[in-house]
Amino acid sequence: GVVGVVVVGSANVDLLVTVPRIPRPGETVLGGDLRRAAGGKGANQAVAAARLGARTTFVGRVGDDEPGAGTQRALAAEGIDCRWLRSTPGTATGTALIAVDSTGENTIVVSPGANARLQPADVEAAAEAVGPGAVLVTQLETGVAGTCAALAAARGARFLLNAAPAPSSLAADVVAAADPLVVNEHEAAAVLEVLGARTWSEPRDHALALAQHAASVVVTAGADGAWWCLRGEQAQHVPAPPVGEVVDTTGAGDTVVGAVAAALAAGSGLAEAVERGVRAASWSVRVAGAQPSMPRSEDLAATRSTRRVIPAL
Ligand code: RIB
Ligand code: NA
Repeated sequence: GVVGVVVVGSANVDLLVTVPRIPRPGETVLGGDLRRAAGGKGANQAVAAARLGARTTFVGRVGDDEPGAGTQRALAAEGIDCRWLRSTPGTATGTALIAVDSTGENTIVVSPGANARLQPADVEAAAEAVGPGAVLVTQLETGVAGTCAALAAARGARFLLNAAPAPSSLAADVVAAADPLVVNEHEAAAVLEVLGARTWSEPRDHALALAQHAASVVVTAGADGAWWCLRGEQAQHVPAPPVGEVVDTTGAGDTVVGAVAAALAAGSGLAEAVERGVRAASWSVRVAGAQPSMPRSEDLAATRSTRRVIPAL
């Protein structure tokens, strides 16, 4: 079989501006110099997985413009297989407008551009990259999550669903196929609402509640690390290692996803995979940008995190 990580999803050019604080509606805020960085949840996750040693394939769409060519070059330079990354005539590469405040928190507006042209047929065309032992990863910046779940099942691969950005609709059978479902706290609440379930205020409770719908769940909690849960079991907490100054959290969630996928593809269990994801994300928040900040295996060697078991409610 084919073993590795196959990421299906978005590739964006990120336009980042540091601001003293995120503007309110109707407000103008003066920020710092404009920075461009490679981004997009899908491409970010592929880069995170590749840097941590996974054989990685990226399936997506860029525009037939300079940013699209730059995205292709950047992903290929990471050793990512881009055979199924298509350039789409007459469309712009996806673009994200990102404001980062002085605490490293951000707000993001995405113009999907070519990402919106990604079709089920694009995913099916990449079937040969997916096989038993592979981890097929997708998010919700493109509209092919259902196709990804079906392809993973058909090819005997593991399906990792990152339900980001927070969905306003999502099929229950796609959630059920996720092993794991990876969400932050906002996304956890949104998925529970879509499923008609009640929401909670603690990430541990969200992990437990979502594990009634997905095979396994990871709820990321920023500086508090992450909670994970297998269906029918206790929720477990992975604290984040201490980080000095948080510069930019953009792509931290994607770093978790890519690192978890890489660890699972390498044969780790979910506990070890989540520890690795939390450590990788903690590394990434110290540097501006999404892809520029993602660690390599040797970067993580010096960091540690500990695991403890918290009983279920
Ligand atoms: O998750 C962070 C990413 O979200 C950014 O890189 C931006 O492109 C948006 O897709
Ligand atoms: Na970062």
